Amino acid sequence: MAETMMGLKRSHRCTELGTANIGETVTVMGWVQKSRNKGGIIFVDLRDRSGILQIIFEESDCGAESFGKAEKLRSEFVIAVTGKVEARSGGVNENLATGAIEVRAAGLRILSESETPPFPIEENSKTKEELRLKYRFLDLRRPDLQRSMMFRSNIAILTRKFLAEEGFLEIETPTLIKSTPEGARDYLVPSRVHPGSFYALPQSPQLFKQLLMCSGYDRYFQLARCYRDEDLRADRQPEFTQIDMELSFVDVDDVIDVNERLLQRLFKELLDVEIPMPIPRMTWQEAMDRFGSDKPDLRFGMELKNVSDTVRDCEFAVFKNALEQGGSVRGINAKGQGGMPRKKIDALVEFAKGFGAKGLAYLAVQEDGSYKSSFAKFMTDEQLHSLVDAMDGNPGDLLLFAADKNKVVWDVLGNLRLELARQQDLLKKDDFKFLWVTEFPLLEYSEEQERFVAMHHPFTMPMEEDWGKIDAEPGAVRAKAYDIVLNGTELGGGSVRIHQGDIQAKMFEVLGFTPEKAQEQFGFLLEAFKFGVPPHAGLAYGLDRLAMLMVGADSIRDVIAFPKVKDASCLMTEAPAPVDGKQLEELGIEIVED
Ligand code: AMO
Ligand code: AMP
Repeated sequence: MAETMMGLKRSHRCTELGTANIGETVTVMGWVQKSRNKGGIIFVDLRDRSGILQIIFEESDCGAESFGKAEKLRSEFVIAVTGKVEARSGGVNENLATGAIEVRAAGLRILSESETPPFPIEENSKTKEELRLKYRFLDLRRPDLQRSMMFRSNIAILTRKFLAEEGFLEIETPTLIKSTPEGARDYLVPSRVHPGSFYALPQSPQLFKQLLMCSGYDRYFQLARCYRDEDLRADRQPEFTQIDMELSFVDVDDVIDVNERLLQRLFKELLDVEIPMPIPRMTWQEAMDRFGSDKPDLRFGMELKNVSDTVRDCEFAVFKNALEQGGSVRGINAKGQGGMPRKKIDALVEFAKGFGAKGLAYLAVQEDGSYKSSFAKFMTDEQLHSLVDAMDGNPGDLLLFAADKNKVVWDVLGNLRLELARQQDLLKKDDFKFLWVTEFPLLEYSEEQERFVAMHHPFTMPMEEDWGKIDAEPGAVRAKAYDIVLNGTELGGGSVRIHQGDIQAKMFEVLGFTPEKAQEQFGFLLEAFKFGVPPHAGLAYGLDRLAMLMVGADSIRDVIAFPKVKDASCLMTEAPAPVDGKQLEELGIEIVED
């Protein structure tokens, strides 16, 4: 039968002990990582969240009863050991923090036994993720996950500390709110008291934090749980956490300033990494033109070049047609890749097609200066030379071109650039390259909805100098919006908000809301705008993404204790699941089979 804590107190975590403790009597508790019985002497690796400590059992030290129990120990038994710290008898183990010592047991309690776990509890597990997620409570015992979870906790604690020092108040906002149609799909919660009515889970605390500014709280923050019903990827979960903040009486530079200092503090204290200040800034337009992405990865070059003017007069139909239809021809120079075998180039073409390209034109500059190309036959030698010149092409380089609408060209080459960097192993995880992307377009045309939609959200302030274009050329209006990007990941985003009722009403009109509809959806905000609104601005980070990049994980699942998988289900609890008929009845909900 399992023994209890009665009278026993843990004195140290496993790796809190070192050579300085030699001679002390200590009590340690944890899980059996491994037990080796050498006949008359038993070695146990004891594990807790701090790490591993070697325990040594000999009957002459611990007595027959404890020795008998030690013989029964198996992996994942939970035990308490009292004993004396000694210099390690078998020589120092350099791989362990506690490799110079061991604890010679004087007493043992088995606090809990364990069945054989379905997979070994070990660092860098080779077990399939599905199985590990089903037994997440065991997976979470693995040292790498434990380190990540502890690191994440440190980010949260230091963020709170920093923001409090900067005069921010931590205020909670509701998570049962009114559904707003902008942005991603909402998760809905049916109301029992109001049959047929629904709450939504918040996609972010956006409206509430703006109302808090209206109420005079000045500087707010929250580690806020957010919910979005969208397709999942490695850096997206249906529920995730934001470090969310809002500030009054500020402009873009003030928000950027406090956030640069927050990032600087987090990286210095938690990783001992110095972020060069200030973090560079780039307009959205420049980011798209140079990197084909609004979240450029600055760890490597391979920038895009617009060669539309250079190829304007050539006879290559692909280029000609794209230009005639108002598109562009752009290329990237994969330096030193000119010898890439045809098969690999074909794979790149297929990759490009995955992002909507109709094809990918290539030109490899050979070592002797001649060209190998999919389109050379459509161009004069002179045209080819000037194209290669425009691309800074040298012998041994591979030039890749996309011709299409700007949006497609950017997307294709932006992603191709990343793919080439992956192939060449240029993406070092401990190289942190930050960037502010600014001056995003205010609106984006949605082909699907046949109207303009807000690129960030409908509360984002347009740039004063562009506001005059809102009726004639809505797509050309830039916003006071900014994203913080790290190594090609959008870490956070924010904006200066509209604080004028008339501009907000006009925004809703441009977005296709009738005044009645705007009133119905956002009446409370428009109402608040009538009673004195401070200029305000804010930003929200994805905490999960920040933790993922800081610990060098490949997915945010690795920094979330209980994540969901691609189809938004939880493999451990099996949520979502059907509910009792009675529960549905109470909610006035009927399931229609189709
Ligand atoms: P935005 O929608 O850009 O802005 O979200 C802010 C940050 O949240 C993170 N994020 C996610 N992380 C994990 N899984 C997801 N599904 C997910 N979606 C977003 C990203 C993103 O940069 N209210 C505004 C902020 C503001 O204007 O102040 C907002 O929510 O890292
Ligand atoms: P095609 O004329 O379709 O045989 O294409 C000739 C070359 O141009 C091939 O290498 C295609 O992959 C490439 N190509 C086709 N469409 C495009 C495009 N939109 N942008 C760049 N290259 C293209």
